[in-house]
Amino acid sequence: METIQGKMSLDMDLNKLQERLANSNRIILDLGTGDGKFAFHLADKVPDDFVIGVDSCRENLREQSRSKLKNLLFVIASAQNLPCELNGLISHITINFPWGSLLESLLTSDSRLICGLQSISSSIASADIRLNGGALTEAGWTLEDGAEQIHHNLLQAGWQINTPCFMDAYALRTFPTTWARRLAYGRDPRAITMRVALPIQQNVNIVDIPLK
Ligand SMILES: C[S@@+](CC[C@H](N)C(=O)[O-])C[C@H]1O[C@@H](n2cnc3c(N)ncnc32)[C@H](O)[C@@H]1O
Repeated sequence: METIQGKMSLDMDLNKLQERLANSNRIILDLGTGDGKFAFHLADKVPDDFVIGVDSCRENLREQSRSKLKNLLFVIASAQNLPCELNGLISHITINFPWGSLLESLLTSDSRLICGLQSISSSIASADIRLNGGALTEAGWTLEDGAEQIHHNLLQAGWQINTPCFMDAYALRTFPTTWARRLAYGRDPRAITMRVALPIQQNVNIVDIPLK
């Protein structure tokens, strides 16, 4: 899979990935990581966890991907075609304020995204999805209807979802991603967050990694 460090693009195979992951506790994936600040925040806060930020756009990642944190990695990939090296590894997924094709795939229950997320998940995995009003308006939905549609799609996929909660301007201002802060001071400072439990995986090729 393609990883990025500053301006350099590096190929990482399964062996190299396993070396990097050795002794990690949880492996967290931030999908649509943007400039990677949230991934950096998580990795910095919990050094025993390993955090992988994934985005299809490399330009915004140049700065954070220079980080020297050993438990942080940035991967260039599309959400609809996640690298198979990640299969069975991820214990928690975050998707913060998706837009574009990532949001569209959640709204349409795109099987490339849904199956991809299930494939990369470990046997017990969870996800936090945060949706914002402006991105859903651009996609032709109200915040409530768009969140309801995604909620419905994930339930249909067999995922269990806690009651969605609203994030107001204060919650956005204090949430450590670049986009949350931008939204907090913008025209539509509203978001909805949902915590999801992914179905227990039975048929994925789980990679054997010594975790601790
Ligand atoms: C509004 S930004 C949010 C960035 C970050 N999560 C934050 O909170 O600051 C949405 C991100 O989703 C990424 N994205 C959109 N479609 C994608 C896709 N199909 N695959 C991977 N990333 C995607 C964009 O490149 C962008 O960085």
